Amino acid sequence: MLNTNRSKQSLDASRVGSKAHDLARRLRDSIVGQDEAIAPIVQMYQTHLVGLSSRGRPVATFLFLGPTGTGKTRIVEATAEALLGNPGAVIKIDCAEFQHSHEIAKLIGSPPGYIGHRESSPRLCQETLDRHHTESVQISIVLFDEIEKASDALWNLLLGILDKGTLTLGDNQRVDFSRSLIFMTGNLGAAEMNALLSSRLGFAPPDRKNERLGERITASGVEAARRRFTPEFMNRIDKIVVFKPLGTTELEKILDIELNAVQRRLFQSTPGCALELHVSETGKRYLLREGTDTRYGARHLKRAIDRLLVQPLANLIATEQVLDGDVVSVDFCSASGELLFWKESTNQPRQEEVAVTTYEDAEILHSDFAAPVRTMAPQTQLAPV
Ligand SMILES: Nc1ncnc2c1ncn2[C@@H]1O[C@H](COP(=O)(O)OP(=O)(O)OP(=O)(O)O)[C@@H](O)[C@H]1O
Ligand SMILES: [Mg+2]
Repeated sequence: MLNTNRSKQSLDASRVGSKAHDLARRLRDSIVGQDEAIAPIVQMYQTHLVGLSSRGRPVATFLFLGPTGTGKTRIVEATAEALLGNPGAVIKIDCAEFQHSHEIAKLIGSPPGYIGHRESSPRLCQETLDRHHTESVQISIVLFDEIEKASDALWNLLLGILDKGTLTLGDNQRVDFSRSLIFMTGNLGAAEMNALLSSRLGFAPPDRKNERLGERITASGVEAARRRFTPEFMNRIDKIVVFKPLGTTELEKILDIELNAVQRRLFQSTPGCALELHVSETGKRYLLREGTDTRYGARHLKRAIDRLLVQPLANLIATEQVLDGDVVSVDFCSASGELLFWKESTNQPRQEEVAVTTYEDAEILHSDFAAPVRTMAPQTQLAPV
């Protein structure tokens, strides 16, 4: 009999479980300004975890478009890092390598009896797909990069994977993609996007304008995808995301992420010379200025960090001007228009014990370090060669 006294309890269907929440947090920590791409990855993962994904299809298929250097590939690596503990746990197919139909044999192998059969194993076999599985996570992350360059043969192959979640190899063996997250990235509409971005060259647009620019970029990406891809293909994609161009606010956050990555490299990759790095606010502003070019996104910023910070640091390490445990401060000097590198000595008399002139010099150069200059130990200026 029906219980007529049932009370209603409102539910929150937007909340996700702890594993999906953890994935969202880790993606937000490493990917800036592209929440529209993070949300569907997290949602599809959540749906898969509770077993509600459609049967006989991949866990999810995404198409990522948008300007260069905005995080399309990085978000795939970050997903692999969050789920499988390794950013390299991505099975990457560079579609530019398969522009001719005969090259497809490299992916799926040749049928028995054909030349080349048995010579090398197909790149998309089950073993490759399962290679990065861990005890707790049996998901494969597959990336088809530069999708617009795929040959018709690769298209047909992809249609089968997206539709049925399986791929038949040259020797008739089946590869199961039903536990795969499939990402496709492309530069469709890049010319139109570049034209839109070039009109704001050299400076990052303020937020409101940025929003409108983002909308126009999204429209040109979706339009270009509709022109290039057949409706059957578009229909099989769970979510198309056009990545937004990165403005000053986003690049500032990416700079912090990248500086943390440099610090990690200093601790991990230079055994015997673990340095502590401090970059002042003026130093950061300089890196940001040198690394901002809306056309090239965060790649331009990363190149500026490499050229202006990492390479000089490498010289300082190689010439033993800095040693294990040293603290290196980096500041911008407006007189010379470049970054200056300082070693903060710890085994010498403290700042207030040395000559006043030294303190004044230090104050000019280190005016915006968090630590008060008056209590800082004396510093040695370094020449990065
Ligand atoms: N939104 C972002 N958040 C954090 N880092 C980013 C972002 N966009 C780019 N980066 C940084 O810039 C690098 C280059 O970005 P990525 O390889 O993802 O570009 P892309 O969008 O795939 O460009 P392309 O279309 O040229 O392949 C990344 O490795 C990452 O360090
Ligand atoms: Mg890319």
